[in-house]
Amino acid sequence: MKVVTHQLRCIDCGARIAGSDVNSIFRCPICNGLYDVIYPWSATQGEPSAPVAENRPNASALRWLWQERRTSTLPVDQSGVWRFRDLLPIVDDASVVTLREGNTPLYDLPRAAKSIGLDWVLAKHQGMNPTGSFKDTGMTAALSVAQQRGFEWVACASTGNTSAAMAAYAARAGMRSIVFIPEGKIAWGKLSQSMDYGALTIQLKTDFDGCVRVLTELVTRFPIMLLNSVNPYRLEGQKTPAFELAEQLEWQVPEHIIVPGGNLANGSALAKGFSEMHHLGLIHRIPKISIIQAEGANPLYLTLAENGGEELIPVKANTRATAIRIGNPASWRKALRALRSTGGWCEQVSEQEIALAKAQIGAEGIGCEPASAVTFAGLKKFVAQGKIGREERVVLVLTGHTLKDSNYTIDYHRGELFTAEEDAAIAPADQVLHSALRKPPIVLEPETDTVFRVLETQMKPVPA
Ligand code: F0G
Repeated sequence: MKVVTHQLRCIDCGARIAGSDVNSIFRCPICNGLYDVIYPWSATQGEPSAPVAENRPNASALRWLWQERRTSTLPVDQSGVWRFRDLLPIVDDASVVTLREGNTPLYDLPRAAKSIGLDWVLAKHQGMNPTGSFKDTGMTAALSVAQQRGFEWVACASTGNTSAAMAAYAARAGMRSIVFIPEGKIAWGKLSQSMDYGALTIQLKTDFDGCVRVLTELVTRFPIMLLNSVNPYRLEGQKTPAFELAEQLEWQVPEHIIVPGGNLANGSALAKGFSEMHHLGLIHRIPKISIIQAEGANPLYLTLAENGGEELIPVKANTRATAIRIGNPASWRKALRALRSTGGWCEQVSEQEIALAKAQIGAEGIGCEPASAVTFAGLKKFVAQGKIGREERVVLVLTGHTLKDSNYTIDYHRGELFTAEEDAAIAPADQVLHSALRKPPIVLEPETDTVFRVLETQMKPVPA
């Protein structure tokens, strides 16, 4: 007998279906809504008066088991996603495709915190995953489902990180992958990954949203599993950093989690993770989850400002943070639900603010890609608006590794990132920070005297 471990529930009309009955575009045939994965124990979630579901996992037993698995040599236990598999029973262990994703570090950012008058800013660095972004946590989950369901081909549209992750996991599973990326609008590090991992890489002369349109047609006509974040299995993997974070903080939940917003799925995945932990008694409250967009790719911010979240206002997206260069995000309703259910906010930040935040994170010895730096830029705004106080604990989710987009970093340090007009718009206080942070390479003749003279001018003591 096949045990039914989960169902899919439409987030808009509530219709439930078996996981195996889902259509190729992962949308409800009744209302076109997206799905959540639900389990027998989560069926009553959000209905406080409902009886406690059967087979509800026990919080203490889970904590113990997850800790125990850390010492195991089994691949499923070594994975920082599948170590928590009790809360994502979507595949058999034998179908799991893993690169030992997850297990990412939680760093403190003392200088960044001090610069904005906070005691406590941490960074959960999802860029420390096998392909250098948070996408690996979701890809291991969805790709494993694709493998169990017998797909030979998988496909995605991507601003670069999803494609890198998908290509890697498909290669590990011996499956074939098709990537659609917007031509000229993705960072080279990411493009090189999808080629290296053997994906069929197609650059379309359009933006991310145009790539999604072509992909949707493709998967409706051929037996290819769609691996964009509308695939709810992706989000089951992407919820696990919430578990890992809670564990790393000894189950003390921070007040705030801040994530970048692009196609708008990740914030909701983390919200699902926290909400499930809360439901099961692993944590006592849920942090506020806030989403930050780039000003040039701000459809959620705009929608909230213009119509309070009634109907999405798509935009023609443009930002140097290419990972989040998305104007018509598929998961905007899920993001809205995450903001509302956790009490978080949505903010937008400028190109100059992103660059400064990225340089500040880099100067902590951590580094991240531009899209990840929107989190710190957004935090500065929340502090300035009085929404976050000195003693509140904030965790920034850094979604991608700094090496993903080294061109951006080099242009920044050489002073070549911005136009003269953009440069002129930077506030004087920020100009001072930029000039202290910029470290362009110094080109010299290989003569000791010259080198020493320059070093002397550069090696002044750093002010405390
Ligand atoms: N940060 C990075 C580094 C990303 O690559 C993405 C999304 C996001 C943040 C936003 O996450 O879409 O869940 O809101 N990148 C996708 C891609 C779109 O194709 O790699 P989201």
